[in-house]
Amino acid sequence: MAEKDLFSGFWIKNVHLKNHIGVAPMTRTSAVKDSVPRQDVLDFLVHRAQNGVGLVFTEAVLTDYESAQGYPRQSRMVTQRQIEAWKPVVRAIKDAGSTAIMQMFHCGRVAWPEINPAGRIIAPSPVAPKQENPLTGQPFPVPDEMNRFDIDHVIRGFAETAKGAVQAGFDGVEVHGAHGYLINSFLSPYSNKRTDHYGGSTENRFRLARQIIRAVHEVMPEDRLLTFRISNWGVVDMKVSLFEKDQWLETIGLLDKEPVDAVSVSTLNFSYPAFETDQNMAQLTRQKTGKPLMICGGIYDRKTADQALQDADIVLSGKSLLLNANWVDDIANNRPLEPRTPQEANVAYTDEPLP
Ligand SMILES: Cc1cc2nc3c(=O)[nH]c(=O)nc-3n(C[C@H](O)[C@H](O)[C@H](O)COP(=O)(O)O)c2cc1C
Repeated sequence: MAEKDLFSGFWIKNVHLKNHIGVAPMTRTSAVKDSVPRQDVLDFLVHRAQNGVGLVFTEAVLTDYESAQGYPRQSRMVTQRQIEAWKPVVRAIKDAGSTAIMQMFHCGRVAWPEINPAGRIIAPSPVAPKQENPLTGQPFPVPDEMNRFDIDHVIRGFAETAKGAVQAGFDGVEVHGAHGYLINSFLSPYSNKRTDHYGGSTENRFRLARQIIRAVHEVMPEDRLLTFRISNWGVVDMKVSLFEKDQWLETIGLLDKEPVDAVSVSTLNFSYPAFETDQNMAQLTRQKTGKPLMICGGIYDRKTADQALQDADIVLSGKSLLLNANWVDDIANNRPLEPRTPQEANVAYTDEPLP
């Protein structure tokens, strides 16, 4: 097969991307007032668009004022003030010729009760992560098992937040179904022990994701995108494989039937073998979906970007684009680059200006 070109254009549904390179969603915990991010954090997204990325994801935006919040100073998109704050950001990203997608998330059992407005943590089952909360050094509390009211509230929260994104002018929204947060914790038998129709089979564990996708799809105009992010790893109990291979494939098969315009697979490293096979996660995922596929994890220079693109349609970079304003230009010119460490990336959570 001919090598794909990182710098050629690409269509997702009716939306044209100027290249195959995107900024991965990155939470910045900067929203001190009104759940609106700090101005330099908003400007960061615009600068990356102006410096050549085709696709810009926002940080994970919370879907309610109840239990969705997992970290301090996260943002929301439901009040007029929040929507107005984002409008010029989205405009500027588009003026730079890039596409803007807002990611939405509910933290689920990874939440931190001290900063969660409800002081309450909800999850599919009353199962706490095994590890301590690295941010507080305390054990994670046992979450409340979600009842019908909680489930409806969560679904509504995603749909209402998507409406805010539409008003702010975003080209699309992403449902965050990765990293051990709420939706992912329903998908995985590691954290979903339910015996009702939200647990047990893969189809049942997928039910919440399906209901959220459909509720969001209903409020999205036809010309906007809906993407879904998924992973086999979580930010807590990180070494645990959240799926078995067949469960992953079945889940992707179910996702493929839904009205999502692209599937975004988050990995610790795009090149690692998936589930002890000789394929990577993108190759394995491709078996079950023909939808546009985004891949992320360990893409830091021209070589890794080119390699990752061979099995996917869009490559996303987190840490490299966070810490290097000229990353797109550097890879365009094949300059020597090093992988960036999570420790370096922690600057994202401070008020230190980024390059
Ligand atoms: C500071 C920081 C914040 C992140 N926040 C999010 C987030 O809000 N949503 C999400 O899906 N992933 C988040 N991630 C994960 C990244 O999107 C990406 O998957 C990860 O950094 C691996 O890609 P990389 O090797 O290019 O950095 C975050 C990563 C970093 C470094």
